[in-house]
Formats: sequence, structure tokens, C-alpha cells
Amino acid sequence: MPNHVQEKLVVKIELLACKLLKDASLKRESWMLRTIFSFGLVIVSFSLAANSAFAETPVEVLAAIKVEASATPGFQGFSAAHGESFYRNKQKHDLGCSSCHTDNPAAEGKHAETGKLIKPFAPAANQERFTDMRKVKKWFRRNCNDVLDRECTAQEKGDLLAYLLTVNK
Ligand code: HEC
Repeated sequence: MPNHVQEKLVVKIELLACKLLKDASLKRESWMLRTIFSFGLVIVSFSLAANSAFAETPVEVLAAIKVEASATPGFQGFSAAHGESFYRNKQKHDLGCSSCHTDNPAAEGKHAETGKLIKPFAPAANQERFTDMRKVKKWFRRNCNDVLDRECTAQEKGDLLAYLLTVNK
């Protein structure tokens, strides 16, 4: 759901809630009803907000990483060239990102250990890539730990995504 639609929906639900709450208080019915209703409202708003994490574009994901990187002193922007060498270099355990996502990020990848197929890594070749912040975070954490024995820095993540965005089909 696009963000502005969600926002409208939340506002509508809130208006409806106010009306219902008013009615309820007019009747001096029960504080319990109101409490339960308010809780329900909070939960609905939260799940809608959480849902917005799914509707990103790779450029928006890059912008979010940039906000994170900008907090680092000396940050001077992302470099696709650094991203490419980061992607290709073998790090610890003789593993690099390209070990599974292959030398050509636009091609289908193959898991270095299990042999399982991995859909292409570059957004140009796979429109699902970098469109879900939660998935992006989860796999950055997991794969960076496998390859570097630590999490990637915001600079590394941004450089990598900047590089992937330059890759054509
Ligand atoms: C051992 C194999 C392996 C290695 C090495 C690996 N990955 Fe992955 N990666 C995967 C698998 C499996 C997935 C999840 C399946 C999928 O999304 O197709 C994935 C998915 C991702 C995603 C999710 C992207 C999205 O939005 O769909 C990111 C980000 C990612 N990897 C980053 C990296 C980075 C950065 C490195 C190098 C530091 C790396 N990976 C190295 C196997 C690997």
C-alpha cells in the first residue's frame, strides 16, 4: 500500500474512533469499551506503519542508508567503485558477496555451501531486490557476519547498493 494511502487510512480510522468514543462517553457506557477500542486503534496504526516497510524502492533504501552513514564523521558520499571491489573481494573464510551472488550480480546466484539457486542480486535484473527494508536489514546482518565476522558499516552497504544500481541487465 503506498504511504499516502496508508496515512489517509490511519486518519480515517482515527476520526471514526473519535466519533465512536464520543458516542460511548455520551452514553456513559463503559470505560472498558473505550480502553479496548483505544488499544485496538493503537495496534492497527502500528501494523499499518510497520507495513510501510515493505513498500520501498532501491533508491529509497539507499537514501535510508545514507541517513545512517551521514551520522559518521567524515562521510563523503557513496562510491560505486568501492562498492564493486567490496562485492568482488574475498574477505574472511575465503568468502565474498560474489561467492553466492556470483561475479555478475545480474545473473542468477548459487549458494556457495548449499548450491541453492539465488535470484539475481541487481535490482535491474530482479525487481523485488531492495524493496523491503526488513529483508534488506536481515540479510545484510546475516551475510556480512558470514563474510566479515561483523556487520557491514553504513558506508559499505551504501557503496554496495550504489554499485548494484549501476549494473544493467
Ligand atoms: C553464503 C552465501 C551468501 C553470501 C556469501 C552472501 N549472500 Fe547475500 N544472500 C544470500 C541468500 C541465500 C539471500 C536470500 C535469498 C534471496 O534473497 O534471494 C541473500 C540476500 C541478500 C540480501 C537481500 C537483498 C534483497 O533486498 O532482496 C542482501 C542485502 C545481501 N544478500 C547482501 C549480501 C552482502 C553485502 C554480501 C557480502 C558481504 C552477501 N550478501 C554475501 C546468500 C549469500
